[in-house]
Amino acid sequence: MSDLTENVWNNLREHAIEAMHRAYCPYSHYPVGAAALVDDGRIITGCNVENAAYGVTLCAECGVISTLINGGGGRLRAFVCVNKNGDVLVPCGRCRQLLYEHGGNELQLHLPSGIHAMSEVLPEAFGRHDLEEIKETFHD
Ligand code: THU
Repeated sequence: MSDLTENVWNNLREHAIEAMHRAYCPYSHYPVGAAALVDDGRIITGCNVENAAYGVTLCAECGVISTLINGGGGRLRAFVCVNKNGDVLVPCGRCRQLLYEHGGNELQLHLPSGIHAMSEVLPEAFGRHDLEEIKETFHD
Protein backbone atom coordinates (compact mmCIF):
# COMPACT_ATOMS: atom_id res chain seq x y z
CA MET A 1 0.00 0.00 0.00
CA SER A 2 1.11 3.56 -0.70
CA ASP A 3 1.03 6.43 1.80
CA LEU A 4 0.75 8.83 -1.16
CA THR A 5 -2.63 10.24 -2.16
CA GLU A 6 -4.41 9.54 -5.42
CA ASN A 7 -3.81 13.21 -6.33
CA VAL A 8 -0.06 12.75 -6.06
CA TRP A 9 -0.19 9.68 -8.30
CA ASN A 10 -2.45 11.42 -10.84
CA ASN A 11 -0.11 14.41 -10.96
CA LEU A 12 2.88 12.13 -11.43
CA ARG A 13 1.14 10.29 -14.24
CA GLU A 14 0.29 13.58 -15.97
CA HIS A 15 3.96 14.55 -15.88
CA ALA A 16 4.87 11.17 -17.34
CA ILE A 17 2.35 11.64 -20.17
CA GLU A 18 3.82 15.06 -20.94
CA ALA A 19 7.32 13.56 -21.12
CA MET A 20 6.05 10.67 -23.27
CA HIS A 21 5.11 13.21 -25.97
CA ARG A 22 8.78 14.22 -26.19
CA ALA A 23 10.06 10.65 -26.73
CA TYR A 24 12.43 9.96 -29.62
CA CYS A 25 11.41 6.51 -30.80
CA PRO A 26 11.54 6.35 -34.63
CA TYR A 27 12.39 2.61 -34.56
CA SER A 28 9.96 1.05 -32.09
CA HIS A 29 7.26 3.73 -32.31
CA TYR A 30 6.74 2.97 -28.64
CA PRO A 31 7.03 6.24 -26.75
CA VAL A 32 7.55 6.03 -23.01
CA GLY A 33 7.35 8.83 -20.46
CA ALA A 34 8.47 8.47 -16.87
CA ALA A 35 8.06 10.64 -13.80
CA ALA A 36 9.36 10.38 -10.26
CA LEU A 37 8.70 12.20 -7.02
CA VAL A 38 11.91 13.12 -5.18
CA ASP A 39 12.04 13.28 -1.36
CA ASP A 40 12.32 17.09 -1.47
CA GLY A 41 9.05 17.36 -3.42
CA ARG A 42 10.51 17.81 -6.89
CA ILE A 43 8.95 15.95 -9.81
CA ILE A 44 11.44 14.88 -12.44
CA THR A 45 10.72 13.28 -15.80
CA GLY A 46 12.32 11.44 -18.70
CA CYS A 47 11.46 9.92 -22.06
CA ASN A 48 13.01 7.14 -24.13
CA VAL A 49 15.68 8.07 -26.65
CA GLU A 50 16.34 5.47 -29.33
CA ASN A 51 19.34 5.06 -31.60
CA ALA A 52 20.03 3.60 -35.07
CA ALA A 53 22.26 1.17 -33.17
CA TYR A 54 19.23 -0.25 -31.37
CA GLY A 55 21.08 -1.53 -28.30
CA VAL A 56 22.25 1.96 -27.43
CA THR A 57 18.67 3.04 -26.72
CA LEU A 58 18.07 4.92 -23.48
CA CYS A 59 14.92 3.99 -21.61
CA ALA A 60 12.80 6.80 -20.16
CA GLU A 61 14.08 5.82 -16.71
CA CYS A 62 17.64 6.71 -17.76
CA GLY A 63 16.46 10.27 -18.39
CA VAL A 64 14.88 10.41 -14.94
CA ILE A 65 18.05 9.27 -13.21
CA SER A 66 20.21 11.62 -15.24
CA THR A 67 17.96 14.55 -14.31
CA LEU A 68 18.01 13.49 -10.65
CA ILE A 69 21.79 13.45 -10.44
CA ASN A 70 22.30 16.55 -12.58
CA GLY A 71 19.80 18.39 -10.36
CA GLY A 72 21.82 17.74 -7.21
CA GLY A 73 20.65 14.21 -6.35
CA GLY A 74 18.07 13.07 -3.81
CA ARG A 75 16.07 9.95 -3.03
CA LEU A 76 13.23 8.76 -5.23
CA ARG A 77 9.95 8.20 -3.37
CA ALA A 78 7.48 7.35 -6.14
CA PHE A 79 7.72 6.40 -9.80
CA VAL A 80 5.46 5.84 -12.76
CA CYS A 81 5.97 5.32 -16.49
CA VAL A 82 3.42 5.32 -19.28
CA ASN A 83 3.05 4.25 -22.90
CA LYS A 84 1.53 6.00 -25.90
CA ASN A 85 -2.01 5.56 -24.55
CA GLY A 86 -1.07 7.00 -21.20
CA ASP A 87 -1.37 3.53 -19.68
CA VAL A 88 0.97 2.63 -16.86
CA LEU A 89 3.65 0.11 -17.79
CA VAL A 90 6.15 -2.00 -15.89
CA PRO A 91 9.74 -0.72 -15.91
CA CYS A 92 12.10 -3.18 -17.60
CA GLY A 93 14.44 -5.26 -15.45
CA ARG A 94 17.49 -3.12 -16.10
CA CYS A 95 15.61 0.02 -15.16
CA ARG A 96 14.35 -1.52 -11.92
CA GLN A 97 18.00 -1.89 -10.96
CA LEU A 98 18.67 1.69 -12.04
CA LEU A 99 15.77 2.98 -9.93
CA TYR A 100 16.70 0.78 -6.96
CA GLU A 101 20.06 2.52 -6.62
CA HIS A 102 18.30 5.85 -5.96
CA GLY A 103 15.11 4.77 -4.22
CA GLY A 104 15.91 1.55 -2.42
CA ASN A 105 13.42 -1.06 -1.28
CA GLU A 106 10.85 1.55 -0.19
CA LEU A 107 10.47 3.24 -3.57
CA GLN A 108 6.79 3.09 -4.54
CA LEU A 109 6.03 2.09 -8.13
CA HIS A 110 2.74 2.50 -9.91
CA LEU A 111 2.32 -0.69 -11.96
CA PRO A 112 -0.67 -1.94 -13.99
CA SER A 113 -1.63 -4.08 -10.98
CA GLY A 114 -1.45 -1.18 -8.52
CA ILE A 115 1.14 0.37 -6.20
CA HIS A 116 4.06 -1.84 -5.24
CA ALA A 117 7.26 -1.35 -3.27
CA MET A 118 10.54 -1.89 -5.08
CA SER A 119 11.24 -4.80 -2.70
CA GLU A 120 8.30 -6.61 -4.33
CA VAL A 121 9.36 -6.07 -7.94
CA LEU A 122 13.13 -6.48 -7.42
CA PRO A 123 13.44 -8.76 -4.40
CA GLU A 124 16.84 -9.25 -2.79
CA ALA A 125 18.28 -6.59 -5.08
CA PHE A 126 22.00 -6.34 -5.64
CA GLY A 127 23.22 -3.00 -4.39
CA ARG A 128 26.06 -1.02 -2.93
CA HIS A 129 25.73 -2.95 0.35
CA ASP A 130 27.02 -6.01 -1.53
CA LEU A 131 30.11 -4.13 -2.66
CA GLU A 132 30.71 -2.78 0.83
CA GLU A 133 30.55 -6.29 2.37
CA ILE A 134 33.36 -7.42 0.10
CA LYS A 135 35.46 -4.33 0.78
CA GLU A 136 35.36 -5.09 4.52
CA THR A 137 36.74 -8.61 4.05
CA PHE A 138 39.31 -7.83 1.38
CA HIS A 139 42.89 -7.44 2.59
CA ASP A 140 45.85 -6.91 0.29
N1 THU B 1 11.30 1.40 -22.75
C1 THU B 1 11.46 2.34 -21.76
O1 THU B 1 11.71 3.52 -22.03
N2 THU B 1 11.34 1.92 -20.48
C2 THU B 1 11.02 0.65 -20.08
O2 THU B 1 11.02 0.36 -18.90
C3 THU B 1 10.63 -0.33 -21.10
C4 THU B 1 11.05 0.00 -22.49
C5 THU B 1 11.49 1.85 -24.15
C6 THU B 1 12.75 1.38 -24.80
C7 THU B 1 12.38 1.41 -26.26
O3 THU B 1 12.68 2.71 -26.78
C8 THU B 1 10.89 1.20 -26.30
O4 THU B 1 10.44 1.35 -24.95
C9 THU B 1 10.49 -0.19 -26.79
O5 THU B 1 11.13 -1.18 -26.09
